[in-house]
Parts: sequence; structure tokens; C-alpha cells
Amino acid sequence: MSFHSESSPEAPSESLHYAGLIADPRVAQARGLLLEALEAHRNAIQSIRPPNPDLVPAYHRQLERLAAARGGAPYFPYISSGLGNGPFIELGDGSVKLDFIVGIGVHGMGHSDPRMLSATIDASLEDTVMQGNLQHDAASLWLCERLIALAKQSGARLEHCLLSTSGAMANENSLKIAFHNRAPASRVICIDNCFAGRSIALAALTDRPAYRTGVPKALDVDYLPMFHPSDPKGTTRGAIEGIQRLFDRYPGQHACLWLELVAGEGGYYPGTHEYFESLCKLCHERNVLVIFDEVQTFSRLSRPFAFQHFELDQYADIVTLGKITQVCATLFGESLKPKGPILSQTFTAATASIRCGLAVLDHLEKSHCFGRDGWNMRRHKYFQERLESLAKKYPGRISGPYGEGMMVAFTPGDGSAETAKNMLGKLYDLGLMGFVAGSHPTRLRFLPPPGVTTEAHIDLACGCIEAAVKSM
Ligand SMILES: Cc1ncc(COP(=O)(O)O)c(C=O)c1O
Repeated sequence: MSFHSESSPEAPSESLHYAGLIADPRVAQARGLLLEALEAHRNAIQSIRPPNPDLVPAYHRQLERLAAARGGAPYFPYISSGLGNGPFIELGDGSVKLDFIVGIGVHGMGHSDPRMLSATIDASLEDTVMQGNLQHDAASLWLCERLIALAKQSGARLEHCLLSTSGAMANENSLKIAFHNRAPASRVICIDNCFAGRSIALAALTDRPAYRTGVPKALDVDYLPMFHPSDPKGTTRGAIEGIQRLFDRYPGQHACLWLELVAGEGGYYPGTHEYFESLCKLCHERNVLVIFDEVQTFSRLSRPFAFQHFELDQYADIVTLGKITQVCATLFGESLKPKGPILSQTFTAATASIRCGLAVLDHLEKSHCFGRDGWNMRRHKYFQERLESLAKKYPGRISGPYGEGMMVAFTPGDGSAETAKNMLGKLYDLGLMGFVAGSHPTRLRFLPPPGVTTEAHIDLACGCIEAAVKSM
């Protein structure tokens, strides 16, 4: 397996000592042995499995210690054994789950992937565990250039890329760039039901009052109605009228429109080209910047970026991404380059995250995830058809499906938070991991790993969903 990502524009010079280390036959041999061992052990994990009763008491004690250490029980009683295989993960009680949420969209290659191991071996031989703003390795450059090239594929003017360690930090940077460039404008426009991250500023954007409990208000945010497929024209018109009213009420005070193109935490509501374009156009006419948050959507639709999927390239002033890339980033255009030292962090990312991010991008492109008829859209259709037939078979107990690409959701029963949580728990016990999204209704959502999910995995997931629905 090659030691540097295929996306690197040039191989490191043989005269450099790191290149010598990587090419050392002992490293090649060790890499081969590690990959062989991984293969042998991960092959034992092939499907869902119940817990091993002998391991359960010690596992419960571990969960109790975890709850005590972190000041509350984790959402799922999940402590991994450290080994998985594709979308399957083995837990410390010996059970195996089909992981269709992958840390909320992070592990796009599933678990224990050999390509990720190989990238991690390269990273582990580098001089430092972390990269930062005072020290960039060559792979940091390759990743930035790769993301910029992907972003510019169909005309977006995004010439710069700043790496960071969380989606929240990528969004913080995006807002800073916007405010800095549009000062003194200080208001942000968002869409109902949106989620931007967990910092104090982003809690102000996120449309969940509970997430702001006791948190002081950091920003002035105005909300527009979300697109809804039950009334495409009406909801689009409502948002257009809403934004015009905002511009009249606060003339010159909006720095940016911040958008998720598929509302993620909000319940898997995609908008449409027409809906987004009408808002973005009005913003550009008023000198208001457009930020697309692609932290959850990146790599999950027909194109690497959702703004490309919705053909909004010309409106992409600033774009954030994260999760599946293992490293988060803020992309922005030349005209928005900050004129002062407003952007910096100690860490840009872990050395392994950067090399693994490159390996993910290589694999997704090579395995034809993208394209109107690429694997992301084909698997979406397959999953959707299976859920539709369950919805017909069990009317009132499951409705939908919803979402776009490798973001799939359905509404269980009456759409209450309680029903969704109960069903999520049932699915977990049956061996399928998903998560909740949205409120009124609360949905169950899935983020299958695009790099490794097959139709057989989707069949297995739908078998679990049917068993859970039957028991409702
Ligand atoms: C759309 C969106 N933006 C931002 C974030 C925040 O990312 P992070 O949790 O890495 O800070 C998330 C996380 O779920 C997200 O879904």
C-alpha cells in the first residue's frame, strides 16, 4: 500500500530523511504484518451479534466508571472493543452492532479500515502527533489543496482553506471572516431548526433553546422559515418575504446568511435549488455573505459538496466542512482574506487525521460515490425504497423516508420524542445504531459510512427496523 496519499501532488524527495524512513524495508515489512494481522482479526466480525454473557458484568462496571468520569452516562451504553469491520463494530461486551451513525457521520470508511491503518502508520512515523499553525507538514498542504480543488470543481471561488479540529471551530472561523469583512454589520440570518455547533456563538445560531440554557447571548440571529416539501412554493415564498422584511427592519446590519443545505440535527430536511438560490441571490444583492455549513453533508450527496449538488457554486462565499474528512476546515475566497490576525489555533489537526482525511477522499472518489448515479445516490434510493415498503406495510408506525444521499431518516409512530427514543433503544438492542434528529416530529436518522456500505448492509438494517416496528 502506498505510504502517501494518491492525492499528494508530488512524492516526497528521496533525499529527505522522512522519505527514507517510510521506504525502509523494515517499515514496509511492519506495515505488511500489521495489515495482515488487522485483516485476520477483523474478518471474525461479519454481522450483528448479541453480547457475551460472561463479559456483561465487567462491561457494565466499565460503563458506570465512564459515567462517573464524564459526569453523566453516555448516550448509548457503548464502549468499543477497539475492533470492527466496515460498518460493524464490536463492543466491550462482545456484541457487534451495525453502525449506521458512525459517531454522527465521522467514520466514513467504517471501522478498522486497512486504508486508514496505512495512513495512520505513515502519520505515526512523522515527527509530531499534532500539526499546528506554527508547523505544517506536507500532508497538511496536500489536504488543503485537495479540498480547494474539489470546492472549485464547478466554479466556486474558494481559493483558501484553513484547517481546524472541530466543526464548531470551522464555523467560528467562518463567522469571524464574515464579520471582519462586513464590519460593522453584526447580525446573522439562519433557517428555523438549524444546528451550527456547541460554542457560545454557535449556540446562538442553533435553533434549540435547550442548548442555550444558562448560556449568555453572543450574537443577534434572525430566522427564516425552512423549505418544506409539502408546500414548496409557499415555504420558498415565505422565506423570500421573510428575508426582505429582515433587510428592511435591520438595514445594512446583516453580515451573512448561514445555511445547512440539508438540515441535519434539525431532522433531515433538504431544501431545493430554487429555495436556496432565491435567498442567496437576495443576499448577494445586499452585500450579505453566504456561508454553507457542510460539516454533516460533505461527501454524502451526489457531489463532494452539497452546494455543488444543489448547483449553488456561485453563491459559496465561505464553506465549512468536517466529520468525514477527519479534519475540519473553512474555505473562503481571495476577496475575503482577513486583513488582521483574527484566525489562528495551536492545533490544526492530528497528523493521523490529516493523512486519514486524504485516504478517505481518495477512496470515495475511486469507489464512485459521487455522480447523479454514483453510489451515494444509488444507496439512498435503495434504502428509501426499502423504508417506503415498510411504511406501506406498517401504516402509522413508520413514515417517510426523508433525507438526501447518505443521510436517511424516517419518523417512527406519532413523531413524539418519546416514541423516537424508545425505537432507537429497541434498534440498539437489536444491533442497529442510528440516532434521533429534529423535533415535532422527532425522526430516526442514519448516516451509513459511504466508503463501505453495501445493499446487504441496508437489508440488514431494514430487517432490524422491521423487527423494532413490529414490536411497537
Ligand atoms: C451541520 C453541523 N455543523 C456543525 C457541527 C459541529 O461540529 P463539531 O461537533 O465537530 O463541532 C455539526 C455537528 O454535528 C453539524 O452537524
